[in-house]
Amino acid sequence: MDEKKKVIFSGIQPSGQLTLGNYLGAIKNWVKLQDEYDCYFCVVDLHAITVKQEPKDLRARTLEVMAIYIAAGIVPEKNTIFIQSHVPAHSEAAWLLNCYTYMGELSRMTQFKDKSQRYGESIAAGLYNYPVLMAADILLYQTDLVPVGSDQKQHLELARDIAQRFNGLYSETFVIPEPYIAQTGAKIMDLQTPTKKMSKSEDNPNSYILIMDPPEVIRKKVSRAVTDSVGEVRYSDEQPGVKNLITILSTITGQTPKEIENKYAGQGYAQFKNDVGEAIVGELEPIQKKVKEILADKSYLENIYKTGAQKAEYSARKTLSKMQRKIGFIPAAR
Ligand code: TYM
Repeated sequence: MDEKKKVIFSGIQPSGQLTLGNYLGAIKNWVKLQDEYDCYFCVVDLHAITVKQEPKDLRARTLEVMAIYIAAGIVPEKNTIFIQSHVPAHSEAAWLLNCYTYMGELSRMTQFKDKSQRYGESIAAGLYNYPVLMAADILLYQTDLVPVGSDQKQHLELARDIAQRFNGLYSETFVIPEPYIAQTGAKIMDLQTPTKKMSKSEDNPNSYILIMDPPEVIRKKVSRAVTDSVGEVRYSDEQPGVKNLITILSTITGQTPKEIENKYAGQGYAQFKNDVGEAIVGELEPIQKKVKEILADKSYLENIYKTGAQKAEYSARKTLSKMQRKIGFIPAAR
């Protein structure tokens, strides 16, 4: 039966502590999809080093991201959970695909354009090539569906273009992946500047909620979230701060924005903000407790990433060998 299931691949960079955006835009959807699909959930550490990382922090965060996947409800026995650098095929395939990707395509990536403004001349070449590594991640598993937040849509379109180009040159090699971007929660906004997305790389901690933020910190950050002087809970582009809080509440509780508007009609923001804070705490607090338990048992985690890497390696190698053969490399004598 399992062979017939469609394949999902997704990943998160251990480049900073994970935010509510990562949770609502990605992980919460993965949990819902895991029964229906054959899922690969990866901690993409090779991606993280496109910006400077402290080795000890990278190690700690890689394990923490994995623990968060599991604590949020990704069942290790049902899914392939692994660490990207444990499967060398990702780096190898990325090199090959680099030779089928145009500079023009990579230069058009908006995330690269934004980041290159921040880093100037000393921007790493890895940051430029990063979407190719992401394409390799996805294509190696013959992935059908990629559940991500809306900021990854452009990278996914590039992965599709690269796959189609390679298939066109050498005959069917890759499944062409589709994005899976949820109706709500695909773009959680910054709490201080609600016109940009919530990001773990933001300097002001009041801009984001971390999955591991203590409850009192979460409550404080929500109460400080920027709103407006309209004084009505309305799901409107003219009130981006309030709209974002409605989105967060709606994604967590399943209520529609309309239901939320009606509930708080004529009440101002105090009770509404209080309820948003409580909803987030109610969602994250049990996860935080489990993360701590999981991190206390390193051999449990080690077992999961060991098994995960073995399963991932098997599938990834199959695709990589196919690519090498089609390109014209001589198979290594064994
Ligand atoms: P990353 O690590 O920046 O983010 C991980 C996931 O979280 C989503 N996300 C958000 N969703 C809603 N609102 C937000 N504010 C928000 N911020 C982040 C992202 O869309 C993403 O789904 N390149 C990827 C990681 C990656 C990957 C892959 C993903 C590498 N290889 C293969 C899918 C498939 C990244 O940097 O995501």
